[in-house]
Amino acid sequence: MSLRPAQRWSRVSQALHWLIGLLILGMGVLGLTMVQMDPSMAKLKVYALHKSIGLTVLMLVALRLLWRSAHEAPAPAPMPAWQRIGAATVHTALYLLMFAMPLSGWIYNSASNFPLQWFGWLQMPSVWSPDPAAKQVAHAIHEYGFWLLMALVALHAGAAVKHHVVDKDETLRRMLPGLPPPARGSP
Ligand code: HEM
Ligand code: HEM
Repeated sequence: MSLRPAQRWSRVSQALHWLIGLLILGMGVLGLTMVQMDPSMAKLKVYALHKSIGLTVLMLVALRLLWRSAHEAPAPAPMPAWQRIGAATVHTALYLLMFAMPLSGWIYNSASNFPLQWFGWLQMPSVWSPDPAAKQVAHAIHEYGFWLLMALVALHAGAAVKHHVVDKDETLRRMLPGLPPPARGSP
């Protein structure tokens, strides 16, 4: 058994980080494109796809948080306290928004009294009764929350690149796949 603190993120943490990141960016492009489409069968299909992938993202984010809470995270690279606190604050905000996006979409869908299926296969329950006020609030959270999420992702990715290029520390490398496996017990 290794008693060393974890040096890097595990394969599972890395896979979930990059998969969820890609899905969220793809979902943003899909969401922004589909709202511009003229009413058609194709539009209905794209909406249904957006909702199904969004529910999948919700499941993956919950899985990621469970995995995270059950394993020790690698200690941050040496850096000033304000950067460490800033990074932890942005990470918490990213987690909150990763939940807020699919949940606000689901509440918006339910408050609009639309049915919801997961890939046409599983009937999903309604999480809100039909309600025009809730529909409006959920829509605003879904729309503006996405841009807030994108702003934080830009800050987050910029910080990761700065660690790599300027500080030349392990922060980015230890989240990248294809490098040596982590010490046992790392998340
Ligand atoms: C990772 C998760 C998600 C992301 C990043 C995301 C992102 C977006 C974005 C950027 C838009 C365009 C907003 C606008 O400009 O009006 C949108 C629209 C929409 N999303 Fe999502 N979404 C996610 C999950 C979901 C889920 C789970 C549902 C429903 C179960 C959903 C339902 C909708 C609906 C119905 C619209 C269209 C709203 C309209 O017609 O004005 N989304 N989404
Ligand atoms: C939608 C896109 C993204 C989201 C939602 C996201 C979210 C997160 C979150 C919540 C963490 C904290 C992990 C934890 O403590 O459990 C994290 C870590 C990390 N992310 Fe991202 N991320 C995204 C994109 C990116 C991009 C584009 C890069 C690099 C260019 C990046 C680099 C990193 C690195 C290096 C870490 C580890 C930080 C450390 O070890 O302290 N992320 N990410």
